[in-house]
Amino acid sequence: MPRYPEYIIQEVIDKNDIVDVVSEYVPLKKSGSNYMGLCPFHNEKTPSFSVSSQKGIFHCFGCGEGGTSISFVMKMENLTFTEALKKLADRAGIALPETNYSDSKQEAAIRDKKELYFEINKEAALFYYSMLSSSEGKAAVAYFKERALDGKCAKFYTLGYSPNKRRSLLDYLVEKGYKEDDIFAAGLASKNDSGAYFDRFRGRIMFPIFNINDKVIGFGARRITEDVNPKYLNTSDTLIYNKSKNLYSLNVARRAKKGEVILVEGYMDVISVVKHGIANVVATLGTALTSDQAKLLKRYFNEIIICYDSDEAGLEAKKRAIMILRDADIKASVMTVEGAKDTDEFLKKYGKDRFLTLINKRKSDILYLMDIFGAKYELQINVEDRIRYISDLLPYLAKVKNDVELDVYIEEIAKRAKTGTQAIYAQLGKTRVVKGDLGAKSPDILPYAGAIVSDKLEKTRELLLSVLADNVSILERFSGIISEDLFENKTQKKLFEIIKEKAESHQRIEAGSVMALFDDDEIGEVTKILTIDAMCDDKSKAVSDYVAAIKQEMRKAKIQALLQSGDMQALNEFLKNK
Ligand code: UTP
Ligand code: MN
Repeated sequence: MPRYPEYIIQEVIDKNDIVDVVSEYVPLKKSGSNYMGLCPFHNEKTPSFSVSSQKGIFHCFGCGEGGTSISFVMKMENLTFTEALKKLADRAGIALPETNYSDSKQEAAIRDKKELYFEINKEAALFYYSMLSSSEGKAAVAYFKERALDGKCAKFYTLGYSPNKRRSLLDYLVEKGYKEDDIFAAGLASKNDSGAYFDRFRGRIMFPIFNINDKVIGFGARRITEDVNPKYLNTSDTLIYNKSKNLYSLNVARRAKKGEVILVEGYMDVISVVKHGIANVVATLGTALTSDQAKLLKRYFNEIIICYDSDEAGLEAKKRAIMILRDADIKASVMTVEGAKDTDEFLKKYGKDRFLTLINKRKSDILYLMDIFGAKYELQINVEDRIRYISDLLPYLAKVKNDVELDVYIEEIAKRAKTGTQAIYAQLGKTRVVKGDLGAKSPDILPYAGAIVSDKLEKTRELLLSVLADNVSILERFSGIISEDLFENKTQKKLFEIIKEKAESHQRIEAGSVMALFDDDEIGEVTKILTIDAMCDDKSKAVSDYVAAIKQEMRKAKIQALLQSGDMQALNEFLKNK
């Protein structure tokens, strides 16, 4: 696999006007110095997708996707970096050098490794799939039948079977020219004490796990006979697979372009829902929902409908997921599969229409908890139960950031527990903020008002970095006044350091090469900052205003924190040292 030096990559970026490239997929309209359009990566009705010809980058203010023309083509066409680079080089008539560049850049090496592991996993998925039509695969096909999965499902998700042998996949892949060490590193082989490799997955139904760009990154593998343990064996984390940062079928779900997504427990649940024509459904990968997964979902959807199993474990998982989703500031609701142990069984027993009814009957997270905790207690007659009821709910109420929403919930809880609202506010360490006629409305129809608090401090930091990135030379005038201490998150600190280096060496920020310095999960933040058009005439004045505002906000936050910690001495010190 050829590696290309930085200057070639920059040339490809420079010679392909990103506005032209994007326009081949998305209609764009000029707006100020940028172009705007409807984002192709998430569902939206008003354009928040911005493209800057001058900077050579795109950024969506809605879902946070961003990057250069190369990453745009990668995402649109599900290509690897090299494939997208080739396509754009062709487009601009640039001849890419044939030779294998051995520029020892660590990043390029990692990129190559990743591409190799994607390839190995894809080959493995196709191998397992092909095994369904072999004689060994008969048991798997019979199992699919038993679970009402047809050939269409198997094909759509590239389900397969791993033969129950020490080395079937290994032999197949080695024959194809892959090295055993790489097959192991890609997560598909295990090693015994004497260092010999053998197939990690044997005698199991295989569920390939795809990333958002349809690349196979790992597998879930289910036993077909009950005497085997564990029930599911999953890929352990590799360079391309992280079980807490990916979700099963998110690649399919995001294409459904729905506002909400159903979160179920397992692979079989997902497949069952999709089989019934509902594509906006995902599952975690054998772990409880993580905050990384919540953030990932937030990029593509605005509501997560939790649809977990109806057992005790399912309930605990729902409570946990609600906490995680509240922390991530994303709307959560719960639907209950009554009369079945899980989603898969429900659909088999009652069918799609009843399932759609359950979706429509879903309850917002806190209302759901109010109901299930309520059912545990005798709120009408037992005084102690009322106290327990409220204290069960308090940890969740503490996560409600919107005062209006909180107010409605507390009103309702007070009614059910026959108490006043003040005591509940007091327990939360809050006083009632809003008093209006909202209490009269049924909380069922109150729109969720979650993440509307915009963080002024973060916004100002982004504006400051944006002006500095566009005019790195300004930094000279502010030496000693602007330092990395003004920033808190690591991406912003890193961008600031890069701006500083560019200023010192009298260079401009080149989007293409700068982007290569950031990790995948930082790109969105960087393109956002680079895309922001601060639209200020007097750049120096803007910079000093932003800096002053940031310092003031940070000071306020510090005082607030000291007040809350109750450390009056530290507070006095801080105020004195102003
Ligand atoms: P379930 O046992 O509910 O799986 O576990 P399921 O998909 O409903 O299985 P079927 O219907 O019996 O085939 C839910 C999910 O938890 C993970 C898997 O991701 C599974 O899909 N899991 C479960 C494991 O990772 N390991 C296990 O041993 C069991
Ligand atoms: Mn299940």
